[in-house]
Amino acid sequence: FTKQSGLLMIFGATGDLAQRKLFPSLYRLYKKGRLSENFACIGIGRREWDTERLKQHIFESIANEQGNTEEKQEFIKLFYYHSLDVSQKESSYHELRELADTLDSQYDLKGNRLFYLAMAPEYFGSIATRLKEDGLTETPGYKRLVIEKPFGHDFESARQLNDQLRKSFSEDEIYRIDHYLGKEMVQNIEVIRFANAFFEPLWNNHYIANIQITSTETLGVEDRGRYYENSGALRDMVQNHIMQIVSLLAMEPPIKLSTDEIRSEKVKVLRALKPIKDDEVDNYFVRGQYGAGEMNGELVPSYREENMVADDSNTETFVAGKLLFDNFRWAGVPFYIRTGKRLGEKSTQIVVQFKDVPMNLFYRTEEKLNPNLLVINIQPEEGITLHLNAKKGGKTPVQLSFLTSKYDRFNTPEAYERLLFDAMRGDATNFSHWDEVALSWKYTDVISRAWEREPAANFPNYPSGSMGPVTADELLAKDGFHWWPVIQEEK
Ligand code: BG6
Repeated sequence: FTKQSGLLMIFGATGDLAQRKLFPSLYRLYKKGRLSENFACIGIGRREWDTERLKQHIFESIANEQGNTEEKQEFIKLFYYHSLDVSQKESSYHELRELADTLDSQYDLKGNRLFYLAMAPEYFGSIATRLKEDGLTETPGYKRLVIEKPFGHDFESARQLNDQLRKSFSEDEIYRIDHYLGKEMVQNIEVIRFANAFFEPLWNNHYIANIQITSTETLGVEDRGRYYENSGALRDMVQNHIMQIVSLLAMEPPIKLSTDEIRSEKVKVLRALKPIKDDEVDNYFVRGQYGAGEMNGELVPSYREENMVADDSNTETFVAGKLLFDNFRWAGVPFYIRTGKRLGEKSTQIVVQFKDVPMNLFYRTEEKLNPNLLVINIQPEEGITLHLNAKKGGKTPVQLSFLTSKYDRFNTPEAYERLLFDAMRGDATNFSHWDEVALSWKYTDVISRAWEREPAANFPNYPSGSMGPVTADELLAKDGFHWWPVIQEEK
């Protein structure tokens, strides 16, 4: 990898994301020698801080990172602070431009600028507009905009936001973060599918019975009640992270591994999603909301008792659904998804269930052979297991799990480290393209509209610490399937 140069401007530098993810990721890139001497960063925030205060803040945010104090002191020298209240129309961006120009000559940055908006989405549009109006995007180098989710609240609001951003940045210059695309094992889906001879021939409706994607969390809504009340699990997890995983699993092989080719295959498969009609949402999607319960021996409150959450909230904290595709490869194969907060464990896992062998030679009873499963563990453990039947001692087939690889989590870069570096070097492959975002909203809008029309009568409907409401099990049982338990890697 070549060392990256340029000016990074982080809007929201005093916020939580910058502190937890961005500064530590930048520090790791710095330590690995991925940042050239022609690199500098301006932190922008509403608070009346100065550069010294920001440096102190960054120093604290990398306290747990490896490296000695001198190294960390050297790293924080790359940072500058500029106070700007983006919520005020009259705020001046001119001084920011002057600082950017000064640093440009001081560090010989060649006019390369990366604007990272790590803040409330309501300001995305106006910041992009002001960056252009006040001349910050007029630069001889590259200009790129990195934005966090949520990208809109539904298709219409996302379209309006996109139209506004496009007045200042072209689609190629917009990097929409989906941090799941930075995860090692999500990136591995393409490698597993396209670098092994024996999966791709079976990767279709002739041999696959169903695919299950489960992403569970133990945490509740924490201090994000205000955001979450307007979001819910469908918008928070399904519209973005889960749909990205689905497209990587379902897409056709790209003709080469370029950003455009991969994106175009992902878009094609999203276009093949079988639309759900307004009156059949209940047949395909179920929702849940956590009640009080016991987690790790401690009693935790229900969602409705959380801060900034309405007593009669209709917001779902759990979703399970069945997606179908209208294309040759996948016709008839359900992709089951589920995600939720305050569930029994933190885990993201994909299970590909293969069809049964044509007849069972081994049991005379009704007992069934175990199906072959390919399990991709995304987190917290990372690895792949293949479940096969084989004889072990006696005559009866037993299921064997082969752990092909166990990743050393500490050696693989964190999602944000990867994505920041990709944005700096101009590789947009692992970011969401507008077409993907739009198709995904169109799909989930039907579901959220139905749920808003008809508030859930039975919320809360699962206790904290469980695996969600029983309706999620019934969804699969109707098709003769069940969720595969979250299978832990063999130690
Ligand atoms: C975020 C959601 O996008 O993803 C959070 O807004 C969720 O609600 C988080 O907790 C999960 O990410 P991870 O990487 O911990 O699985």
